[in-house]
Amino acid sequence: MKPLIAGNWKMNGLSASVQEVQKLIGLFSGSVPDDRDILICPPATLVGLFAAEFSDEGIAVGGQDCHANASGAHTGDVSAEMMADAGAAYIIVGHSERRADHAETDEAVRRKAQAVWRAGLTPIICVGETEAERRAGREKEIVGAQLSGSIPAGDDAYVIAYEPVWAIGTGLTPTPGDIAEMHAFIRSRVRDGVRILYGGSVKPSNAKEILAIANVHGALVGGASLKADDFYAIIKAA
Ligand code: 13P
Repeated sequence: MKPLIAGNWKMNGLSASVQEVQKLIGLFSGSVPDDRDILICPPATLVGLFAAEFSDEGIAVGGQDCHANASGAHTGDVSAEMMADAGAAYIIVGHSERRADHAETDEAVRRKAQAVWRAGLTPIICVGETEAERRAGREKEIVGAQLSGSIPAGDDAYVIAYEPVWAIGTGLTPTPGDIAEMHAFIRSRVRDGVRILYGGSVKPSNAKEILAIANVHGALVGGASLKADDFYAIIKAA
């Protein structure tokens, strides 16, 4: 499976950040490799600008969230159709920060993933246990329930991102054995051809080891995707 290296910029980035992505392309001597998919998910304000600038340069652009409806009276929300219109190819749904900050349930995430399909795009559906859940040995139960609840029925393409909540932005990562075990578990629960990304403190120093683990088909990178040098090193490690 072709690896997917995705950067989730979260609530970071202004129009001047175009220069950071231009720097990334420059590090590839202007020719981004096509044996791996590269994706940047900037804040919604930058999706149109980045898509116009970079979609033809081998860097796909994605959204970080969308509303389940296509349009309507939902002040402040953005629909999957709007993301598609702006040039997005993927939309992240169910990130743990949205599940926590906006009380998004599995059912809400499933409806969003369906909306992404409706708009003709690919959802990246995020799952992952908290530290307390892992300590209690419940990580598979939690992730299994999130998978059952968040993946819509249907044949359209989707990507799963396994992001243990306790590994996000902390510098902590599960052991390679724990990542392998969880990815094998997720593999057994999703259909063939679905890419399973690992996310949570992926950085240049651990990317090679993580991306070599069985059933890890790429990474969803937060902090390290904001810096061209770091994101370049992670892409090269794939
Ligand atoms: P960090 O790479 O900053 O830990 O964030 C991971 C993440 O949440 C990506 O979606």
